[in-house]
Amino acid sequence: MGKRGKFICIEGLDASGKTTHAYRLVRSLLERGYEALYTTEPSSGQIGKFVRRYILQRKERVPTVVEALLFAVDRVDHIERTIKPGMKEGKIVVSDRYLYSSLAYQGAAGLDLNWISEINEFALSPDLAIYLDVPPEIVIKRLKRKKSVMENLHTQRRVQEVYIRLVNERHLVLIDGNRAKHKVANDVLSTVLDFLEKSS
Ligand SMILES: Nc1ncnc2c1ncn2[C@@H]1O[C@H](COP(=O)(O)OP(=O)(O)OP(=O)(O)O)[C@@H](O)[C@H]1O
Ligand SMILES: [Mg+2]
Repeated sequence: MGKRGKFICIEGLDASGKTTHAYRLVRSLLERGYEALYTTEPSSGQIGKFVRRYILQRKERVPTVVEALLFAVDRVDHIERTIKPGMKEGKIVVSDRYLYSSLAYQGAAGLDLNWISEINEFALSPDLAIYLDVPPEIVIKRLKRKKSVMENLHTQRRVQEVYIRLVNERHLVLIDGNRAKHKVANDVLSTVLDFLEKSS
């Protein structure tokens, strides 16, 4: 049998620290001798690039159904090109955003969570999904420069509600992201190391 790595995703609102902590986590795992790989959604592939341009970097949102479908297509491409190959090499693949971003953002915009789950039927379940919880008011302050159409207080509040629901349903593990970076990083790392120990 081939080696099987692990698949971890980091979720949260815009500017909640996902990229900061996904990078730090990968660095800390590498320092401890694990093989780890950082990756992100939208992916760095052709479909991901299109999604960034067509959905995120524009003034008005495209119809939410279009958002949900395009993110789902990029996700399958991302899984096939990056996540599965990384896991096959025995790596711990850390994705900066994943399926729960679709549920939270397009769910917050009114789409049925069951339908979003259905169109993501082929999305591999992560072994561990972390939600960095930061209040919407704080993330809006952190956002120095608007990068996407999702970044307003009303949207962020609704997105947080869906994330919290997913935490309550045990799909995501909540970590308080509204503290000094090193404290958040320590919690993320110890959550992951605990999980790796239990699953080894
Ligand atoms: N715990 C923290 N306390 C204060 N500032 C933080 C903390 N974590 C991250 N930041 C800062 O917040 C900003 C956004 O962080 P980062 O880019 O990691 O967030 P993100 O969730 O990846 O955002 P995006 O959704 O835009 O990709 C950065 O300037 C980062 O340095
Ligand atoms: Mg980021």
